[in-house]
Amino acid sequence: MLHAENLTKSYPLPGKRQVDVLNISHFAMNAGERVALVGPSGSGKSTLLQLIAGILRPTSGTIRLLDRQLERLSEAELDRFRAQHIGYVFQNFNLLPGFTALENVLAAMQFGKTVPPKAQKQRAGELLTQVGLEHRLHHKPGQLSGGEQQRVSIARALANRPALVLADEPTASLDQANAEQVFSLLAEACEQNGTALLLCTHDPELAGRLDRVVSLRELSIYDTREVG
Ligand SMILES: Nc1ncnc2c1ncn2[C@@H]1O[C@H](COP(=O)(O)OP(=O)(O)OP(=O)(O)O)[C@@H](O)[C@H]1O
Ligand SMILES: [Mg+2]
Repeated sequence: MLHAENLTKSYPLPGKRQVDVLNISHFAMNAGERVALVGPSGSGKSTLLQLIAGILRPTSGTIRLLDRQLERLSEAELDRFRAQHIGYVFQNFNLLPGFTALENVLAAMQFGKTVPPKAQKQRAGELLTQVGLEHRLHHKPGQLSGGEQQRVSIARALANRPALVLADEPTASLDQANAEQVFSLLAEACEQNGTALLLCTHDPELAGRLDRVVSLRELSIYDTREVG
């Protein structure tokens, strides 16, 4: 479902300089596959997730996701494609602060337009129940703990039944008990729904629990089996 070929990303620096962050000859994921992305700080994990989400444009190379060539889509098409087919979970939750848990999940469905309007409220309630928040539907992010906020953001990421969830260190700002719960919820929800998952983490134990681990080093991506 995902094929990246000859993918490079450089960020411009002041003057004529640039910083080369990625140079990936090939990276692919199968439908429903759950992959952990590891690598040192600054190795380009967040950059790669943003390229796959179409938030950033590559410097060169191609990304084919669900039979779309992302480089051929306009910004507006990318926004729509992302809303419908990709769920994104951030380290710092990124919920809408003025909206309740239920409204945050609903907003994603209103934007994604994959769930009929009449069914959206029920689905939002079901998703929040699935992540254990049936008693917190009407709380705003500021009234929720970090672990609870991240569970709302998992519900939001799954709202449009995306083919792919991208999760950028989703457990890094949580204590160990919450990190464990949030990780399990995300990994299991993706498995049950046949949703592919690409998750960045610094935690080797969590990484090892997914189907495959890839690592970024010196601009390239390696299957950990190849590194040995
Ligand atoms: N907008 C930007 N302009 C210039 N350089 C950038 C920009 N964004 C990221 N970089 C550089 O690109 C490199 C990769 O950054 P990225 O955030 O992808 O790393 P990461 O692997 O996610 O790191 P971490 O584990 O700390 O989150 C870093 O060296 C960073 O300084
Ligand atoms: Mg990062």
